[in-house]
Amino acid sequence: MKTLRTQVGIVGAGPAGLVLSQLLHLQGIESVMLEARSRQYCEERIRAGVLEHGTVDLLNQIGAGRRMQREGMVHEGVELRFNGQGHRIDFRELTGKTITVYGQHEVVKDLINLRLSEQAQIFFEAEQVRISEFENAGNPTIRFLHHNEDYEVHCDFIAGCDGFHGVCRPSVPAGTLTLYERIYPFGWLGILAEAAPSAEELIYCYHERGFALHSMRSPSITRLYLQCNPNEDIASWPDEKIWAELQKRLEGPQGWLLNEGAVIQKGVTGMRSFVVEPMRCGKLILAGDAAHIVPPTGAKGLNLAVADVYVLARALESHYKTGNGALLDAYSETCLRRVWKVQRFSWWMTSMLHRFKDENRFDAKRQIAELDYVTSSRAASQTLAENYVGFPLS
Ligand code: FAD
Ligand code: DHB
Repeated sequence: MKTLRTQVGIVGAGPAGLVLSQLLHLQGIESVMLEARSRQYCEERIRAGVLEHGTVDLLNQIGAGRRMQREGMVHEGVELRFNGQGHRIDFRELTGKTITVYGQHEVVKDLINLRLSEQAQIFFEAEQVRISEFENAGNPTIRFLHHNEDYEVHCDFIAGCDGFHGVCRPSVPAGTLTLYERIYPFGWLGILAEAAPSAEELIYCYHERGFALHSMRSPSITRLYLQCNPNEDIASWPDEKIWAELQKRLEGPQGWLLNEGAVIQKGVTGMRSFVVEPMRCGKLILAGDAAHIVPPTGAKGLNLAVADVYVLARALESHYKTGNGALLDAYSETCLRRVWKVQRFSWWMTSMLHRFKDENRFDAKRQIAELDYVTSSRAASQTLAENYVGFPLS
């Protein structure tokens, strides 16, 4: 058995865990991080792609932004497409801000490189991770198996950054947390294709056959999504069928063409809205997807994870530097104010753009009227833009 001692034990090396460990490092606070998956798996896992301006600023400030500045694509707006017509929401004009399209796995790659270059302790492929003694006055401990050796990490705090399916949230005694949840009757089928993007900006498309989204990862790689059944079997979607469906849904103004290419990755993601309150139990603090999930239509999951750990790092800094625990005590409440605003926005974007099984003709007309309103009223466009580019990190 190997025993380690650190200030903050971080479970999970996704965006939340990695940004937290870097923020703590910059404040001279020690952490040890353990991750169930291999480094390669974490660096290749295709997920989100949109970074809010505040996330971009933070990544730059913590020294993780160099490659993002070179390779990330700054977008000044998005298109909402319905009835075959595009309507641009101009973020820069409406908010003075922009977003950056840069894959989550690239962010993770950059952060892992940065942390390891600073001699961070990250245990990849940690097995049988368990946490204990975090309630109240205990001595928080993380136990795990690594390369057939048992480890025990004693820490002041455990940061539960292990995503929706992690071990931290389920380790909290029953009855301590309140769960809020909505599961949507559809999922997204996502592909990555070796095709040049067909437009300079993202296209969120409402179509009678279901929602579709055109995004990108680079000048030669397109990321595309289709609304599908929540438990859709990807095997029943050969590439030709995916392209045919994308062509139908994304049909645009005369002359607009969706570029096709080799499909290099595909998968189905279910969609839910989920929050636990509070985001803390004694010395266990939950952050990111471990505490909340948003449907991806607002492109918020990663950004919300980063916003949580920004608040957490400042609270831990105050605790260690001044002995003042007020910010830590306020952590959950501070984060939840943003979480619920982002939940509302993500639910709203999802509701406006998807077809629902139980909807009737009235609902479809109402959705079109809403899209018409959002794209023709400056006030409504500004509301969308303000939420999409993201609120300042508090
Ligand atoms: P995660 O990125 O999930 O990181 C948690 C880490 O903890 C993982 O590396 C995991 O391996 C590790 N872990 C889990 N259990 C344990 C354990 N027991 N012990 C140790 N480590 C553990 N958002 C969007 O905005 N747009 C999208 O298109 C989009 N697509 C997505 C597709 C998928 C398949 C998923 C799952 C999510 C997607 N999201 C998307 C959401 C977004 O990617 C997440 O909100 C974001 O990853 C949250 O970061 P996190 O660090 O909190 O959690
Ligand atoms: C991407 C994902 C999203 O959920 C979204 O709303 C916009 C873009 C993407 O993967 O590029």
